[in-house]
Amino acid sequence: MPPITFDGATRVFTINTDNSTYQMKADRYGFLLHLYYGGRIEGDASYLVTCRDRGFSANPYDAGEDRTYSLDALPLEFPTVGTGDFRPVALSVENADGTMSADLRYRGHRITEGKYSIPGLPAAHGKGMTLEIDLSDDVTGLSVTLLYGVIPEKDVITRSVRITNGGDGRMYILKVQSASLDFLHGSYDLISFYGRHAMERNLQRSAIAHGTTVIGSARGASSHQYNPFVIVAGRNTDEDAGEAYALSFVYSGNFSAEAGKDQYNQTRVSMGLGGNLLRYPLEKGEVFHAPEVIMTYSASGLSKISHNMHRFIRENICRGGFADAVRPVLVNSWEASYFDFTEETILNLAKNAKEVGLDMVVLDDGWFGKRDGDMSGLGDWSVNEGKLRGGIGKLTRDINAMGLKFGLWVEPEMVSEDSDLYRAHPDWALAIPGRKPVRGRYQLVLDFSRKEVRDYVFDSISSVLDQGNVEYLKWDMNRHLIDIYSSATKDQGRVIYDYYLGLYEFLERLCERYPGMLIEGCSGGGGRFDAGMLYYTPQIWTSDNTDAIDRLRIQYGTSFGYPVCTMGSHVSAVPNHQTGRVTPLKTRTIVASSGTFGYELDLGRLSAEEKAEVREDIECYRRFAPLIAKGLYYRLSDPFEDEAVAWEFAAEDGSEALLFAVMQSVHGNMTDSHVRLKGLDGKAMYREESTGLVASGSALMNAGLPLPVESGEYNAYQFHFVKEEKR
Ligand code: DGJ
Repeated sequence: MPPITFDGATRVFTINTDNSTYQMKADRYGFLLHLYYGGRIEGDASYLVTCRDRGFSANPYDAGEDRTYSLDALPLEFPTVGTGDFRPVALSVENADGTMSADLRYRGHRITEGKYSIPGLPAAHGKGMTLEIDLSDDVTGLSVTLLYGVIPEKDVITRSVRITNGGDGRMYILKVQSASLDFLHGSYDLISFYGRHAMERNLQRSAIAHGTTVIGSARGASSHQYNPFVIVAGRNTDEDAGEAYALSFVYSGNFSAEAGKDQYNQTRVSMGLGGNLLRYPLEKGEVFHAPEVIMTYSASGLSKISHNMHRFIRENICRGGFADAVRPVLVNSWEASYFDFTEETILNLAKNAKEVGLDMVVLDDGWFGKRDGDMSGLGDWSVNEGKLRGGIGKLTRDINAMGLKFGLWVEPEMVSEDSDLYRAHPDWALAIPGRKPVRGRYQLVLDFSRKEVRDYVFDSISSVLDQGNVEYLKWDMNRHLIDIYSSATKDQGRVIYDYYLGLYEFLERLCERYPGMLIEGCSGGGGRFDAGMLYYTPQIWTSDNTDAIDRLRIQYGTSFGYPVCTMGSHVSAVPNHQTGRVTPLKTRTIVASSGTFGYELDLGRLSAEEKAEVREDIECYRRFAPLIAKGLYYRLSDPFEDEAVAWEFAAEDGSEALLFAVMQSVHGNMTDSHVRLKGLDGKAMYREESTGLVASGSALMNAGLPLPVESGEYNAYQFHFVKEEKR
């Protein structure tokens, strides 16, 4: 049976993954009903839909005298305004005649081999199948194609929407959700990830109640504040058991995720662009593509949701040679020297990097224009030769000669008021005529919806990259979009979406021109940590907070939707620059190695003993890097609740497992903390390398392991369990 089928007699569409089924039906009036999404089923689930005469739930005219048929109560695949459904809609438009309703009926469909792509937008790649369902409104000519992609063995279904103005005049899109799910029964929790700069992705779990909970961003970036990844979980679902669904938006700008229960206790969940500052014009015949949502289902708890998402992001979102490769271990100059450096400082950092066995030196902010602080220089992408004599070319050559790779920081979307670029082209920055712009970190946002702006920045940055062998680029973005006005259009409701089309075009060009260069995304740390950016930048700086204890929470929250190989994570100095906390080097190393491992401190200030320790740590990381990148990641405790925070990487075949633990607090006469391992072969015996402990997989998983109790704050432990060969 192919993964997508259509039954012509019943007009039921079925999409199957290995472990889940998604079903819809074009009913007798042509409305597209959502029948089911959940564990794999056989047959037609239409019987689930019941109709009853319900007061104050209106009936479409086609239903004649049948008062039992109401779109206010039926599960719908793509709900719109003006059909009698008063729940939150997936699509809201303003038609050419000024009306706001859309009555979409089924017109036809196509099932094709291969997973669709979306012009101008990031979207999952890989083998799979596509279903396109055409809906249209006879009166306005609005035509909508719902796109479904399925990669069965990944247990993932993707959704997107194509909207065409088939009418005569100009219309506007006011809100579009790429995925909308109606659950006929059951009670669910919404798990979402909120935060702030330097404290991103804290987990929040609350019951989906009557009314609608909306999380999202109107900041012009997916944001530190809410992440475009949510989980809908059964009320009792935990890491290991129970049902859960995840939705991840492959987009980096404004979004909205909505969840609520209706009057009949049905649950509706949706994700998409929402309506945040959106009023997108479509002329006759024009087409709009809504970004993609990735969906996965788990019948066995949240770990499985993460495993599905991790694999999918690694294999079907990230691209290029680095998607699946162990990343270089680097040292970044930011917390080592901030803006205060010359080429000597960087060469010194490189000398020490070589001594401890690192792969790469990254020169962060401050190398260009007039940039001795954050008040000036952005936009002037030419090397400050006062700081770097001989420029980037000489610096890369010198660093390469030491046997190290070189990487560079840029912030292409921004301009400082105090810059030659701004003085020459003040209209290139987003700013509302007649108003003074709102400042953020003393900088303004360039209008990336305009090609000439992008072309200029692309040319100036690539002329620097072309000066030397730059093998890594850190792409930063340090403020949000506020003054939404582009002098290139009269329709300001299109600007943020067009800005993202522009950003993605720029990134695509960069990937094509420098195919061997690793790009790390960043937005004041993790302010744009989303599947959209990961399509271009296979790793993202997780947070500007490098404190190992805060990172336990930040990386825990991030791990629900994103694999560790995407999480930029570095060992920094103590006292930590963000929190002032002092943690042992081993603890900082263990936390940072659960990501794309690196350093962010002045290596020259380490003692000889510390340097020796760092050298060993890097060797140790290299040994475990493939397991860390591709092993099954298990959260064994909750850093918001538990004193001992533990997590594990288990080989898929159960042959080995790496367990990390950090004590968050220390007390007198401590009791033992136990952790239960996961993902082992219950029937096999395992030997722990450092202690020599031999125990069965079943004992380690069911009875657990007592963690050591030692005096001292924030101690960390590493255990490597290896399956013993059968004698
Ligand atoms: C914010 C980033 O998150 C930091 O790592 C650093 O690159 C600074 N910007 C530089 O301005």
